[in-house]
Order: sequence, then structure tokens, then C-alpha cells
Amino acid sequence: MYIIINMKTNIALIGFMGTGKTTIGRALAGKLRKTLVEMDSLIEKEAGKSIPQIFQDDGEIAFRELEIDVTKEVAKGENQVIACGGGIVLNKINIDRLGQNAIIVLLTVSFDIIEKRVTADKSIRPLLNKGNKAQAIKELMEFRQPFYERAADIQIDSSNLGIEATADMIINRIKEYEGINK
Ligand code: S3P
Repeated sequence: MYIIINMKTNIALIGFMGTGKTTIGRALAGKLRKTLVEMDSLIEKEAGKSIPQIFQDDGEIAFRELEIDVTKEVAKGENQVIACGGGIVLNKINIDRLGQNAIIVLLTVSFDIIEKRVTADKSIRPLLNKGNKAQAIKELMEFRQPFYERAADIQIDSSNLGIEATADMIINRIKEYEGINK
């Protein structure tokens, strides 16, 4: 008989803004009967104001500090699907803490899809509130790519997949990953 110890019970979804972390996270949490934790909402709760308001009043650094605090708490929990903010990878401490009990899944979609999605709801993404949005997205994506790759245990490109199919693929890839990393 084998006893499996130290299995990670959390799944953390990382990736650029507009890659569908929350939407896919919700589907995934439903399928696996885990709790969906939306990091941005927790940060807003902690700050008592919206993310654009935090950026406007206190600046990005203050936002990142809140993100570190909230991540520290969330990382201690069990059985969660954690939809992370797009910049969580910028502070390595976040990934180290999450990685203790989470498999880290990087979601990607094509540039065109990201551009379409974030253009639709500009008010909630202060980092992209720039004159040339396409350029801002491109530069930020390029800059962050190595951070995302370094943090990820698994990478999934969902450009051509629906929400359910993406969630199913994540489940399959995690099974594979756990088989290899037992
Ligand atoms: C950010 C992404 C946002 C939010 C904040 C900063 C980023 O989350 O945390 O605006 O730095 O990429 P989403 O990825 O959920 O949009």
C-alpha cells in the first residue's frame, strides 16, 4: 500500500491580464470541488477600495505590498483554486509562498485575444490605461514573459479552447504532473 503525503491541495492560476484566470478558475473549482479564491477581490476588501483607486491614491508599490500580504495568507489555505492578479509573479516571495502548497498553472492566450478582452473593460486595469494600449500590452507581456515561465509548473494555451475544455485540460495536465513529481 502506498500512502501519498505532501500532495499539494491548491491550484494557483497565473498569467497576463485577460487570460481568463478568474473565469477558468471558477469552472475548475466547480469541477474539483475546491474553493475559488480571487486574489484581486481580497486585496480590494483588505484595502477597502477598488484596485484602480488603490493605484490612484497609493501607487503601484503600495498595491504590490498589499498583494504580498494577501498572498501570504491565502497560501496557508487548503483546497483552493487561486485566481492570481497578473503581476503576482513580479515578487518572487509570492511564488515561493504559493508554491509550498499549490501547483502553479500558467494560462496564456494570443496577443489579439488579450487586446480584445482588456479593451472591453479598460476601467479596471490601471496598468493599461495608456494612450497606445496595444504597445503597452506588448511591452508588459514581453517584460513579464520570463517571470511567468520561471514561476509555472504547467503551461496551458487556451487561445483555441472554451472555458470547460480549458478546465479539463488543466485537470489532465495536473494529473500528469503529479504522476511525474510524486
Ligand atoms: C495586474 C493585474 C490585475 C490586478 C492589477 C495589476 C497586473 O489583475 O491585479 O490591476 O499587474 O498585471 P488581473 O490579471 O486579474 O486583471
